[in-house]
Amino acid sequence: MREIIVSGMRPTGRLHLGHYHGVLKNWLRLQEEAECYFFVADWHALTTHYETIQGISVAVWDLLIEWLAVGVDPDKAVLFIQSHVPEHAELALLLGMLTPLSWLERVPTFKDQQEKLRERDLATFGFLGYPLLMTADILVYDAHKVPVGADQVAHLEISRELARRFNSFYGRDADAATQVEKGLQVMGKRAAKTFLSLQQRFQQDGDALAVSEAVVFLGGQAGLSAEMREQLLAHLEGKGREILREPQALLTAASKMPGLDGQKMSKSYGNTIPLREAPEVVRKKIRTMPTDPARVARTDPGTPEKCPVWALHQVYSGPETQAWVRNGCTTASIGCLDCKQPVIEAVLAEQAPIRERAEYWAARPQQLTEIAHAGAQRARQRAAQTLERVRAAMGLAHERHDC
Ligand code: TRP
Ligand code: SF4
Repeated sequence: MREIIVSGMRPTGRLHLGHYHGVLKNWLRLQEEAECYFFVADWHALTTHYETIQGISVAVWDLLIEWLAVGVDPDKAVLFIQSHVPEHAELALLLGMLTPLSWLERVPTFKDQQEKLRERDLATFGFLGYPLLMTADILVYDAHKVPVGADQVAHLEISRELARRFNSFYGRDADAATQVEKGLQVMGKRAAKTFLSLQQRFQQDGDALAVSEAVVFLGGQAGLSAEMREQLLAHLEGKGREILREPQALLTAASKMPGLDGQKMSKSYGNTIPLREAPEVVRKKIRTMPTDPARVARTDPGTPEKCPVWALHQVYSGPETQAWVRNGCTTASIGCLDCKQPVIEAVLAEQAPIRERAEYWAARPQQLTEIAHAGAQRARQRAAQTLERVRAAMGLAHERHDC
């Protein structure tokens, strides 16, 4: 079975080359080897933009267009829009029943974003529940791995903890309980008491040694069957059968793509080259970007390491061009505009096919809609299976009166 990978992006404006060299290239690789679910997180956009919904809808389709434009392939990955799959919401509701408020309140982004986005009122249930909804997005597909940036790791940690909590509450079937019961009887009162105190040491005091001691102790109880031993140990650790898979974070390496000022490329720094920027704007942006401040006059030598253009050469130029830059810059034998020219050409060459494909998709709203709908249908099939398990585990399999 191929690994299942889930990732979402909020529709909050156009993508830039930083996204392409970071997240998207990663997706292109993943779609070749795994079962990927990539979705536009429109509900997540509403958690912060519920008062300013203008533009979300346009951004949703723009995002899909840009994914397709860079080569995310609907025949390889399942592409869809979050709100087209109501199963995410049902799972979020059900997980909410067992989500401690304190877990949500202590997520660093909760307070940080409230501070940062002061102009918005983020003291809402929806915003507090951001990581919970994200958890549902992930667990509903039984994801093994979730490619995320460093800023999302705390959210994923909640997802893992919630899966564990769910399994420990609802993952104990009747059969396991019977085995535990029987095991305790077979051991006799004395040994059962020792066992329960080991359990207490582990569960209440967090003493991990208690587990290895229990393995030895249970091993020495001659009357126990292998199955009883196994169930007793799982009982001690508070482990249930796995109903929801605990996902792993797949940390996306920080994009090597620097911004026009040498800092990380980011919308909030205003230093981006959008994926679909017009060529004349790209030229102008690169021509006017800052260089080593020591090169005031054309005759002043410079130090490439102090120049953001050099950082772009790391991404776009081969060793020969890089040697030409280093030599030309340090000896003042090339000007900064000369130096920028190969970067301009490389960025334009990279963008040309992307821009062309984006135009292709932008002109075909009907086909785009069909791709999103087909994706949602595939996603729903997979999500429905998980929800059936979850409903049954939570005692909600009561569509008929037969008890
Ligand atoms: N919170 C993510 C972000 O801002 C977007 C997201 C929503 C997501 N649901 C997800 C990412 C599920 C991975 C998996 O980038
Ligand atoms: Fe930067 Fe190139 Fe100018 Fe040197 S020559 S300062 S590397 S732009």
